[in-house]
Amino acid sequence: MFRLRRLAKKLIHIIRTLFTLLRRMDTPQKIAILGGTGDLGTGLAIRWAKVGHEIIIGSRTLAKAEKAVADLKEISPQTEALALENPDAAAAGDLVVLTVPAEHQISTLKSVQPGLTSKILIDVTVPLVPPKVGTVQLPDVGSAGKRAQDFLGDEVQVVTAFQNVAAHLLQTDVQIECDVLVCGNKRAARQTVIDLAKEAGMQAWHAGPIENSAAAEALTSVLIQINRRHDISHSGVRIVGQDDH
Ligand SMILES: NC(=O)c1ccc[n+]([C@@H]2O[C@H](COP(=O)([O-])OP(=O)(O)OC[C@H]3O[C@@H](n4cnc5c(N)ncnc54)[C@H](OP(=O)(O)O)[C@@H]3O)[C@@H](O)[C@H]2O)c1
Repeated sequence: MFRLRRLAKKLIHIIRTLFTLLRRMDTPQKIAILGGTGDLGTGLAIRWAKVGHEIIIGSRTLAKAEKAVADLKEISPQTEALALENPDAAAAGDLVVLTVPAEHQISTLKSVQPGLTSKILIDVTVPLVPPKVGTVQLPDVGSAGKRAQDFLGDEVQVVTAFQNVAAHLLQTDVQIECDVLVCGNKRAARQTVIDLAKEAGMQAWHAGPIENSAAAEALTSVLIQINRRHDISHSGVRIVGQDDH
């Protein structure tokens, strides 16, 4: 009986490992980061470059993308990295990440749309409205993530993530004490982004359909308030569970 249980445990472990490996094979290798010259894009590029992904830095200006690639190669010399203008970057990536300020989210998507068909788009946009960035002010459609999904239609799988993680932390070699809430309409697409977040050193969670992105986006203003009122630099969110006793 004891042996049988041990065998079953081993079997479950093997199956889980196989699933993880299969998912890893499924993880896109060529990641295009639009606006990858900026703070958050640079941070994600560094994290993913260090675990072996090929990085494409997209920019409105080729020279700016080239400079960002040169900087990335200084940090991670073995990384295969390419500089392209945003529309070419979107077309060349297996998976595309949008990291531009909220007010330029849709105009940027418009400029790269043909290259996004059938791909996952990770959208990190937080729709902060200065000067009151510590007050939640979501767009009329509900969230920036929903706005992107509505604009792009079903041909693109928009998955939102990383809204609560500070760019500065991503750029440095620290353990990040902030979980990632991953929203999107397709479970498999969310799982791909969860795997990428884990590779970048964070715990990440299925947080439901794209409508739920509103919660993650709103949390950023809450964290800004907490940072101010409690004098901490980078407050984060952490999901916990508790056994039912
Ligand atoms: N910074 C953070 O800690 C943080 C954390 C979580 C989420 N986010 C979100 O991440 C996104 C990027 O934030 P960020 O701090 O990285 O921004 P950023 O550094 O100010 O800008 C990122 C890039 O956006 C591009 N850009 C600027 N103006 C543009 C325009 N008019 N049209 C198209 N592209 C333009 C620029 O790239 P090129 O000039 O090379 O085209 C710039 O390098 C935002 O939506 C933000 O809400 C940021």
